[in-house]
Amino acid sequence: MGIVTVATTPQSDLHDLDTSAEEEGDDAVRRTAGAGESSRASRHWWDRNADEYQDEHGEFLGDDRFTWCPEGLDEADARLLGEVAGKDVLEIGAGAAQCSRWLAARGARPVALDISHRQLQHSRRIDLGRGARPVPVVQADAAVLPFADASFDLACSAYGAVPFSADTDRLMREVHRVLRPGGLWVFSVTHPIRWAFPDEPGVEGLTATSSYFDRTPYVEQDENGRATYVEHHRTLGDRIRELVGAGFRLVDLVEPEWPAGLEQEWGGWSPLRGRLIPGTAIFVTERG
Ligand SMILES: C[S@@+](CC[C@H](N)C(=O)[O-])C[C@H]1O[C@@H](n2cnc3c(N)ncnc32)[C@H](O)[C@@H]1O
Repeated sequence: MGIVTVATTPQSDLHDLDTSAEEEGDDAVRRTAGAGESSRASRHWWDRNADEYQDEHGEFLGDDRFTWCPEGLDEADARLLGEVAGKDVLEIGAGAAQCSRWLAARGARPVALDISHRQLQHSRRIDLGRGARPVPVVQADAAVLPFADASFDLACSAYGAVPFSADTDRLMREVHRVLRPGGLWVFSVTHPIRWAFPDEPGVEGLTATSSYFDRTPYVEQDENGRATYVEHHRTLGDRIRELVGAGFRLVDLVEPEWPAGLEQEWGGWSPLRGRLIPGTAIFVTERG
């Protein structure tokens, strides 16, 4: 299909990386962080923490489950992407490509893109373990997509790339460029209202302590002031404006409710908070 794989992940590489987990003692601050600094931090953070992430969340994510969020809304039920069979699909910030594997099983032709080599090695590990045909993977920054114009029918992302990217205007324009006219771009992110609250699952996470309108990025930095982890905040209005500015039409904004019976926490996402305030926003958009 003429798509260049920028980095492949042979199994022999699985043992090559220094994957010592997250640095202890990094400072958490709110300060500006540009595109280069954010991408560098994300790549290194996710390479270092991919093993721990897959270890901690792999069972919830399944090997081929397509879930949009810690609330457990599955694409199998939500059908936000519509019919996927026969479609070229780009998954952005794919991690171990669980969503792509679900798509492939339903007759789609997915490509899983992530900035982290180690995350993509987990995709290869899962495929090898199942003896399955590997999901095609591409290591690249979502704001600089290595694909020709109009290469895909659908693009999707479950908490991948968008919250970590400084230049989401550019990211949205890139997704628009690689989609065919009428293609859907559906992605989930932390619900913007969560930025007003401490990221804690307990009662301390129920009192607003920051301004929802403060767009200053959340940055963890080492003793030299180098960013090791960055997340970027956009209000709902910001996000809609950047989507519309890139040429998308907003079809739906899904705010999954915490389901009865789900007791499993995921970081700051918990039953206690989930029953009171939204944790996830899923933007369903269509390329004009
Ligand atoms: C929270 S994880 C989600 C992974 C996967 N979608 C899942 O549901 O498990 C975020 C992913 O986004 C990737 N990511 C972060 N910044 C990115 C960027 N600028 N371009 C591409 N991927 C990025 C990370 O490497 C990581 O795998």
